[in-house]
Amino acid sequence: MNTAGKTISARTERIRKDLEAMAAFTASPGRGMTRHSFSEEDKKTREYIRARMEEAGLSTYEDAAGSLFGRRAGKRADAPAIMIGSHFDSVKNGGDFDGPAGVVMGLEIARTLHEHGVETEYPLEFAALVEEEGARFGGGLYGSRAMTGRVSREQLDTFKDRDGISAAEAMHSFGFDPDRIGEAVRPKGSLKAFIELHIEQGPILEAEGLDVGIVKTIVGITQQEVEILGRPDHAGTTPMDMRANALLAASETALFLDRAAREAGEGTVGTIGRMEVFPGGANIVPGRVFFTVDIRSVNNEKVTGLVSSLGAFLKEMETKHGVRTSITEKITVAPVHMSEEIVGLFTEEAKKRGYSMRSMQSGAGHDAMIMAGITDVGLVFVPSKGGRSHCPEEWTDYEQIAKGVNVILGAVLSLAGA
Ligand code: GLV
Ligand code: MN
Ligand code: MN
Repeated sequence: MNTAGKTISARTERIRKDLEAMAAFTASPGRGMTRHSFSEEDKKTREYIRARMEEAGLSTYEDAAGSLFGRRAGKRADAPAIMIGSHFDSVKNGGDFDGPAGVVMGLEIARTLHEHGVETEYPLEFAALVEEEGARFGGGLYGSRAMTGRVSREQLDTFKDRDGISAAEAMHSFGFDPDRIGEAVRPKGSLKAFIELHIEQGPILEAEGLDVGIVKTIVGITQQEVEILGRPDHAGTTPMDMRANALLAASETALFLDRAAREAGEGTVGTIGRMEVFPGGANIVPGRVFFTVDIRSVNNEKVTGLVSSLGAFLKEMETKHGVRTSITEKITVAPVHMSEEIVGLFTEEAKKRGYSMRSMQSGAGHDAMIMAGITDVGLVFVPSKGGRSHCPEEWTDYEQIAKGVNVILGAVLSLAGA
């Protein structure tokens, strides 16, 4: 992008340094990145990000949900801000790039503008959002949901981690007041755009040898939690036809979901990613099973259709296995389209810089899909090595991230009026 006649660009070395530093803040050293929100690792990472934001001349603050922001004033003080960034929490035993690559994109843009003394008409906000993965409290996309009024005070008490700690208690331990969650809401009109960079988390860009992916649509997602209550009995003395085995009902449900998603077509996917069996003894008939269900599709009707056929299937399991079942919705988001204007700006900047690109669909959920409820959104993908993600092998070359940052830098300068 030209500012006063010169093109300014991200620096790969600074991106590398940030990502390497943040990679150290894991609860599972040697077994990938585990950074749950409101944990010790969260604290260290947020301190690191805050320090980098301040060095880049940003004024930092945290919102009522616990997300961290750095603000850069615009010449038009009261104009809506352009927000850029991503999340800094991770899944359990995940990788170092899912989330942080987008946060570092923001840091690098802030530094680049700072060192070149660029002034913009519109203010900029650099975001480091919490609990996008939902790895601690389920559901996820929490930072952006809070900004769009989609987190209630009551949910903060009912959403609990595996140790029974509620989101409200976890926030409290970090000095946030759950009663003030409503203050995190950004009024419509207060943001001009929300822009995110993310690793692709799939194999397409690498396979096609492309630099960047410009996302057009993010799939619709629902996540549900299922509980099956059977009867714990002695595994040696209870005849096979006198059991209420919760695990059998759960296993049949897992097979049903896989089959139903394949039959739905249009790339629809259905996953049971976590299952717990209680009381969990080799010689006890499983009395209770808890599992998560994740269903995604570009076609929202496929998502809603699968949820209702899952409900009907669970009812069948009740009769067949003598169990009781319950299903609780954790989050449902319809498919979202990115702003055509922002897609156009990304495309123009990538062309100008000679980067190879394609337009894409995202099968992963991102905060941008929630922010689309209140502002125009844009999302740029950079290649994932071997398409791997949500695992320790996750990798993207720093030079590739720098290219994604440059594409966003160009779009931000246009939108912000540099
Ligand atoms: C986040 O990674 C999601 O797609 O669930
Ligand atoms: Mn993720
Ligand atoms: Mn992510």
